[in-house]
Amino acid sequence: MTPAEPNADRGAPTSGPLTDRYGRVAHDLRISVTDRCNLRCTYCLPESGIDWLPKDSTLTLDETVRLATIAVQRLDITAIRFTGGEPLLRRDIGELVERIARLQPRPELALTTNGIGLAARAGELAAAGLDRVNVSLDTTDPAHFTAITRRDRIDDVLAGLEAAASAGLRPVKVNAVLDPQTGLDDLPALLRLCLRSDYELRVIEQMPLDAGHHWQRSAMVTAAQVLDRLRSDGVDLVADERPRGSAPAQRWRVRTAEGDAGTIGVIAAVTSPFCADCDRTRLTADGQLRSCLFARTETDLRTLLRGDAGDDQIEQAWRATMWAKAAGHGIDDVSFQQPDRPMSAIGG
Ligand code: 5AD
Ligand code: SF4
Repeated sequence: MTPAEPNADRGAPTSGPLTDRYGRVAHDLRISVTDRCNLRCTYCLPESGIDWLPKDSTLTLDETVRLATIAVQRLDITAIRFTGGEPLLRRDIGELVERIARLQPRPELALTTNGIGLAARAGELAAAGLDRVNVSLDTTDPAHFTAITRRDRIDDVLAGLEAAASAGLRPVKVNAVLDPQTGLDDLPALLRLCLRSDYELRVIEQMPLDAGHHWQRSAMVTAAQVLDRLRSDGVDLVADERPRGSAPAQRWRVRTAEGDAGTIGVIAAVTSPFCADCDRTRLTADGQLRSCLFARTETDLRTLLRGDAGDDQIEQAWRATMWAKAAGHGIDDVSFQQPDRPMSAIGG
């Protein structure tokens, strides 16, 4: 079989970059390396009773490197982000970064973490070839942090942030999903911490990706509310007019009434979807390929990997999956159905 055949009848190109029917090109691969987590954020995981993936269905280091190699060398992937669950729970994350950093052409490497364990590992990860980190932190109030994450670990996260900056994993970005009750009130302190420490704050609208399927649009803090609150607190906001490209964040230059200045990003994933510019392709920890966070179907690359599939076959399965990517997440459609798996299993 020539590599050109499998997709010929489905319309997907059999070579070149990873494209879909709408002309979008995916250059950014998100790899969830574990679905496990040491926090239990209310918008992601339930307090207890979680069915973690069985260990043997999680891709091994070698399997993940093989898929990353196909992505970089055959599919024009130029940036890879490691996500979870919590990626630092993988003891071999340093080795994974190191092996993927050796690929040619070398992809840009980033990691999204909740920050726990980062203080101990930031140096190792930077030395392995990691370029940057995003650390999730929704509030600087210790009691609110514990209420949101159901764990009393804010000090570990703050230490992780400092270690990341010292190790040169910059720009250090802080991802914040604002709590509907306390998030807006806690925003000034979070912004101050980020501006003074030179972390870039990114406020993300909460998406319907919680394990309990309790998400309600009316309870979500919107991007507009965030901007209104900042303005009424006397923060000067100037839109960054540089083209966003496929970046989901609208960036703003900010100056607070206290005189702290810098940049923030606001990600209006729900109220102003950026699906038309999406450049992502996603791999779950159990080797399922997803064309979108909200996809209702997955392509089982693990079975292909563990069978006798060659790289050509995996490449073409990847192309066919992305070719079928939906135009948008459709959260506002009456027919919208939340994915069965929560964010922890899909990867942010
Ligand atoms: N909506 C928006 N962002 C989320 N995250 C986790 N769950 C959600 C959700 N339901 C964020 C986390 C983390 C990243 C992986 O995604 O805060 O920063
Ligand atoms: Fe863990 Fe991230 Fe989910 Fe919070 S949002 S429970 S840190 S995977």
